[in-house]
Amino acid sequence: MIELPFAESYKIKTVETIRKSSRKEREEWVAAARYNLFNLKSDQVFIDLLTDSGTGAMSNRQWSEMMLGDESYAGASSYYKMKNAIREIIGFEYFLPTHQGRAAENVLFSSLIKEGDIVPGNSHFDTTKGHIEYRKAIPIDCTIDKAFDTTALHPFKGNIDLEKLESVLKKYPRERIPLIVVTVTCNSSGGQPVSMQNLKEVYSLAKRYGILVFFDSARFAENAYFIKLREEGYADKSIREIVKEMFSYADGMTMSSKKDAIVNMGGFIGFRDEQLWKKAQTFNIMFEGFITYGGMSGRDMNALAQGLYEGTEFDYLDTRIRQVAYLGQRITDFGITVQKPYGGHAIFVDAKRFLPQIPKEEFPAQTLAVELYLEGGVRGVEIGALLADRDPVTRENRYPELELLRLTIPRRVYTNNHMNYVAVALANVWEKRDKIKSGMKIISEAPIMRHFTVELTRVNGLK
Ligand code: F0G
Repeated sequence: MIELPFAESYKIKTVETIRKSSRKEREEWVAAARYNLFNLKSDQVFIDLLTDSGTGAMSNRQWSEMMLGDESYAGASSYYKMKNAIREIIGFEYFLPTHQGRAAENVLFSSLIKEGDIVPGNSHFDTTKGHIEYRKAIPIDCTIDKAFDTTALHPFKGNIDLEKLESVLKKYPRERIPLIVVTVTCNSSGGQPVSMQNLKEVYSLAKRYGILVFFDSARFAENAYFIKLREEGYADKSIREIVKEMFSYADGMTMSSKKDAIVNMGGFIGFRDEQLWKKAQTFNIMFEGFITYGGMSGRDMNALAQGLYEGTEFDYLDTRIRQVAYLGQRITDFGITVQKPYGGHAIFVDAKRFLPQIPKEEFPAQTLAVELYLEGGVRGVEIGALLADRDPVTRENRYPELELLRLTIPRRVYTNNHMNYVAVALANVWEKRDKIKSGMKIISEAPIMRHFTVELTRVNGLK
């Protein structure tokens, strides 16, 4: 008897055609896009691994929920569907819908953060950092050092270093630390999970200092999957049990539901405390919409509620995360270094090791992203110095320890043949890597969150 092989936990009902292009076409397109892959049209891309955010395929059940959406301005049944799903799966009694994750951050931070505040966390995502810095507050990264070595094997590279965290809590007065943000999984360090143990310890430390803990929960279900597989004592627990325990170590959460709730748009803030919820309501009404719809239509709230149930099923998560690991393995087999263990939503290629000849000032990860696009029409995204922005005070470029090319896998969208294609395209660039002599320089950039709109040119002046 042969053990039955792994197979996806879904079948495909609707398909969308994608188109290959020639290298010559791509050379013209990427130059016209000023070497910023965000500026490409989607039909200029064959396989789009820019992001897993809002790019997933909804299920037949989610689509049927769309038809049942209640578009009442106030008190819609869709709001209550979402409320029930959040209470049942996550455990928070109070919530505010928002149109996406950064909107949740905007509403929450408007009610909590003031100028000069300190917000410790584990490699805050760029919009989170942006919303903190925009308020002239300071995010402090307390991630464990191992997270910054792509070759170091650690099962929970998203963990917070408790000593680093405590030294921040000791250094600043309590009034200046409105909250700690724990990102699960930690996107910026490579889609790396945070252990239950760490969540628990961070919470108890925070409580000793009287400080709130909020989870940035875009990929909380993927985090729970890793806890089940990697942390002692959780193998026999269901994803839902693990999720409930995770959130028992938080006072609230923001969520970009475009990830683990598998919707194309949506988000929310969850609260344990009624007073905090009430305080944030005014900002929700000002920035998003009435408190029972936020920035969402009824049908979108329905699909989100259904997505929370599907996104926390083991078979779905197993299919998804195994596909990410499959791509990671294919790339690693070619001798290319990626962040290990493989993350939950993406493979992060170590661009410093791929292109050691390109100085950090010439953006090696962006250079690699452009080369991969030219090679195969595959769009990844730079997670490096471009994304890290300039220091808000000195205006100097910030150079993070990791220069990564993120290949982000949309949920339920591509097959493993697509993954093979991506791995081979990257391997072809790897083979030619010595011919890449120089990188990119900036022509123009926005003062904050520049990577979305930055314009670049090649340092060598060639097209
Ligand atoms: N937090 C995390 C951890 C994220 O990854 C994102 C978005 C957000 C917050 C903001 O949510 O996009 O709904 O406003 N990440 C996307 C990405 C954009 O490509 O990683 P949003």
